Amino acid sequence: MPNSYRVAILGATGAVGTELLTLLAERQFPLAELKLLASSRSAGKTLTFQGETLTIEAVSDRSFDNIDIVLASAGGSTSKQWAPQAVAAGAVVIDNSSAFRMDPTVPLVVPEVNPQAAIGHRGIIANPNCSTILMVVALYPLHQVKPIQRVVVSTYQAASGAGARAIEEVKAQAIAILNNQTPPTDIFPYPLAFNLFPHNTPIDDQGYCQEEMKMVNETRKIFGDAKIRITATCVRVPVLRAHSEAVNLEFETPFDVEQARQILSQSPGVKLVEDWQANYFPMPVEATGQDDVLVGRIRQDISHPCGLELWLSGDQIRKGAALNAVQIAELLIAQNLLRSSGKIEIGARV
Ligand code: A2P
Repeated sequence: MPNSYRVAILGATGAVGTELLTLLAERQFPLAELKLLASSRSAGKTLTFQGETLTIEAVSDRSFDNIDIVLASAGGSTSKQWAPQAVAAGAVVIDNSSAFRMDPTVPLVVPEVNPQAAIGHRGIIANPNCSTILMVVALYPLHQVKPIQRVVVSTYQAASGAGARAIEEVKAQAIAILNNQTPPTDIFPYPLAFNLFPHNTPIDDQGYCQEEMKMVNETRKIFGDAKIRITATCVRVPVLRAHSEAVNLEFETPFDVEQARQILSQSPGVKLVEDWQANYFPMPVEATGQDDVLVGRIRQDISHPCGLELWLSGDQIRKGAALNAVQIAELLIAQNLLRSSGKIEIGARV
């Protein structure tokens, strides 16, 4: 086993890509080499990593030669195009897009929840949807003690989920509105500043948008429980970074609130944030930059004897994306799982 690794970031200039750089430095990831890849628009531009200037390359056929780990965060179509090539070149791809998440041959991993799923990967490991990651980190410790029967979740999703340009767009919208000008809407379909709207991913014939169905299907896959009933309403809110979620849980028998609080106060990746006197609970501005998912307002559901309510905020770019991906890479190294156990079928169903 080598003790340092050659890593490529695909999408290095994006919101998640730049956070990946920060995390690799912060966590002293054992790097032998770091390659920054993006589109041809960014080729030749530079980014600084630990005081060193690194030049961004346009991704190409030769980009993955002699690379051990690819951290991909450049969107689904880019992943579909390049991940199989990276695997063929011998790398393991940790993919932040939705391209491979529901492929039964691709593990969908949240290290606090299902690290064992990474065993037997075939070269690609999928990083779940951001809202899903934040929710399962908070729910899994309770689910282990008493299986959750049903989840009703409403999300309050920050602009960061739509990428670096979306964050800038919301700022520009706010400035325009405050100056009585028409807000720009290049990334989002409607102004988000001083507004909110249901998540603008395509809607299926049941009336659910893609983001909502990701929460349903991915949670089932991560928990390994196809029967858990989940319904979600996903909403984009004018927060720059960090998503929040209101979650209603139903168990077969009542779940003691104090026990739930006790469990969550000791769970990995979770921080209990509750001051009932001060009405102080998780907020996206405080979740921003934190690794933990902040959980609070844990209370009995007054409408159902076996129901619990909770509220959470988590950094969508960090635990919802970049941190989870780096944790997967750390897991692969720690468990000696970098060599894939099979070959990806190029053009596999996604
Ligand atoms: P670029 O900056 O060159 O467009 P975000 O999610 O914040 O919008 O970031 C998306 C990331 O994905 C950026 O780094 C972007 O690079 C990269 N990207 C987008 N399209 C491609 C592509 N076709 N090939 C490679 N990288 C891409």
